[in-house]
Amino acid sequence: MPTQPWDIHEHDFPRTAPRREQLAFLVEYAVLAPSTYNTQPWRFVLEEDAVQLYADPDRMLPGLDPDGRELWMSCGAALFHLRIAAHHYGYAPVIRTWPDGGEDNHIATIRLGPACEPTLRQEHLFSAIQKRRTVRDDFDDRPVSGSEVERLIRAADREGADLVAASRSDRPYLAEWSVEAGRVLATDPAVRKEWAAWGAVDPDRNDGVPRTSRHLGVLRTHTAPFLVRLPGGFTRVAAESSERIEAAPCIVVLATRQDDRPAWLDAGQALDRVLLQATAFGLAASFINHPLKVDWIRDQVAERLCPGRFPQAILRIGVPADRSDATPRRPAGSVTETVDTADDPLYP
Ligand SMILES: Cc1cc2nc3c(=O)[nH]c(=O)nc-3n(C[C@H](O)[C@H](O)[C@H](O)COP(=O)(O)O)c2cc1C
Repeated sequence: MPTQPWDIHEHDFPRTAPRREQLAFLVEYAVLAPSTYNTQPWRFVLEEDAVQLYADPDRMLPGLDPDGRELWMSCGAALFHLRIAAHHYGYAPVIRTWPDGGEDNHIATIRLGPACEPTLRQEHLFSAIQKRRTVRDDFDDRPVSGSEVERLIRAADREGADLVAASRSDRPYLAEWSVEAGRVLATDPAVRKEWAAWGAVDPDRNDGVPRTSRHLGVLRTHTAPFLVRLPGGFTRVAAESSERIEAAPCIVVLATRQDDRPAWLDAGQALDRVLLQATAFGLAASFINHPLKVDWIRDQVAERLCPGRFPQAILRIGVPADRSDATPRRPAGSVTETVDTADDPLYP
């Protein structure tokens, strides 16, 4: 399994090298961000003193993600990883989002600003980057404490998003929506094609969710909709889905006030901050996102859990029972292009 991108050594940071080399090093952290179906829908362009972040529309999933909502969220997560890595190496990142007005795939220009000491919080988030995993297993019995949930809510808030903790009485609804969404999605041929292309893939690939990922073989989020179609599968999915949602130590919904590209980029940064903060507490998360992929079910989630806002992710959070393997990534070099801007009259 190609896991080399995860093996970054801090002492390799080129402290005295030109900015471009330093930024290239930081991109190595950005590519470890979580992304929908591990599509890694990002590209980076390295200039003399800046790195440009682009969404890669070729990696969009038009069946599962027709508006690109999760694509922009995934890029937001990569941007947040890059921000935290910059702080760790002692630079305040200077970020200009939507440098071309927001109509194309150009998300942000990132420069390294003045030297600054990272805060303790930034250091905790940084040290979580290489430890974070999406954990689809059942969690340990240890509850997630009220103060941990409060801290996760504050983490989302710092990035302009709301995190809402689901109550016990919300869980039967979540279980029903999860199963119903699986059933609806399974009827769409475009979705089925994308599940086949990106869910449970060959473990030698460096994108997609590997079929060796823990518990993909049983009824887990990415594969559950497949199993709904097997004889007796629906009853099994329904039962397992309800059990897992009932048993989850904590379930939260990430929501935003708007539902457009800037909001999805913010949601991705908020999601990433929440995931890294959770990792720093020794927690892990898994997604129950398919209810948000069916419009009328997403509306019901909003109405019950976050009225007046747009739900962007549903997470199960708990203490992982054991350590999961890292999911492969495309190496930073394969998603990065270097351009020479030094002599370009268009670049001041
Ligand atoms: C916006 C977004 C949506 C996601 N939705 C799901 C989901 O519905 N089900 C799931 O199992 N994982 C979901 N994931 C997790 C990805 O599958 C995971 O990040 C990817 O496979 C890489 O694995 P890692 O997070 O362990 O590094 C989502 C991630 C992101 C960023």
